[in-house]
Amino acid sequence: MNEIDWKNLPFGYSKTDYNVRCYYKDGKWGELEVSDSEFITMHMAATCLHYGQEAFEGLKAFTGIDGKVRIFRLEENAKRMIRSANGVMMAEVPVELFREVVLKAVKLNLKYVPPYGEGASLYIRPLLIGTGAQVGVKAAKEYLFMVFVGPVGPYFKEGFNPVKMQIVRDYDRAAPLGTGHIKVGGNYAASLRAGDRAHQDGFASCIFLDAREKKYIDEAGPANFFGIKGNTYVTPDSSSILPSITNMSMRVLAAEMGLKVVQRQVPVTELEEFDEVGACGTAAVISPICMIHDRDTGKEYKYCKNGQVGDISQKLYFKLKGIQEGTEPDIHGWNTIVE
Ligand code: PLP
Ligand code: COI
Repeated sequence: MNEIDWKNLPFGYSKTDYNVRCYYKDGKWGELEVSDSEFITMHMAATCLHYGQEAFEGLKAFTGIDGKVRIFRLEENAKRMIRSANGVMMAEVPVELFREVVLKAVKLNLKYVPPYGEGASLYIRPLLIGTGAQVGVKAAKEYLFMVFVGPVGPYFKEGFNPVKMQIVRDYDRAAPLGTGHIKVGGNYAASLRAGDRAHQDGFASCIFLDAREKKYIDEAGPANFFGIKGNTYVTPDSSSILPSITNMSMRVLAAEMGLKVVQRQVPVTELEEFDEVGACGTAAVISPICMIHDRDTGKEYKYCKNGQVGDISQKLYFKLKGIQEGTEPDIHGWNTIVE
């Protein structure tokens, strides 16, 4: 393995030694298979290719200050993958199987877990796909669940430095009664054009609004949105956003810090009233937002005076990072230690 420049890793794919696979056939999951191939072979009529029967997850492992490797909130990702599987009629991966495959994939690639203090982590990507052949629009009878991993740096190149975001109204990533609340590939395909335009216009990402009325904030690209107003942590409640496990954790931490935590519709007009705003997710971690540009009205909402990240966003960031890296006590049992 070539020397890895941990400090300058992008958020992207890099090859590691092994991935772990498990096939569902005849109504049951088979034995785990370890592979050193980056490729999968499947039937050309596999439902994942034609009808979007696929879901994925994203979680991270960190090397702690004590040298131990911790995986953050593995069970929550497992439970979300069950909801995703149900949403597009795929075989469910039981929590125990999810845990076993994730742990095996991490253990087989331990040398790729970035050392403590490098600002990087091991990204874990579970994938569930319909591999059975169908030509009619029907669920497959066969599935592949697999996990690959790779070391990553921050999702937004700015890291913990503030990013700029663009509000879009001419694209939706998901419909109110569609699949926005589960982690299926189609949502990401639907977000590509708006995301690409936001990048070309100089923004880190776009902010999608509720598809029905275009009045409320939904999500910040591949991350949830949060705002701080006085002593209150506010985050959107919407049927078309992915329930972020990072956001779920931040709500707990915010409440423990004495903040009031509110999950409700967040009108775009309320952007004027926030002291701090940010995006949060496994890949995005906590990304403070310094400016939101509304491309339809031309309005700009500004935060982070003199380039400074707000106090509460900072406190939440360091608390979360501390729990993940073992410098803060894990009182809720969020980490799985890789033994
Ligand atoms: N929203 C979307 C659309 C995402 O893809 C993600 C990433 O998983 C998130 C939010 C953040 O969720 P989590 O914190 O569970 O990673
Ligand atoms: C994550 O935060 O894990 C994501 O899945 C975001 C993106 C890379 C799709």
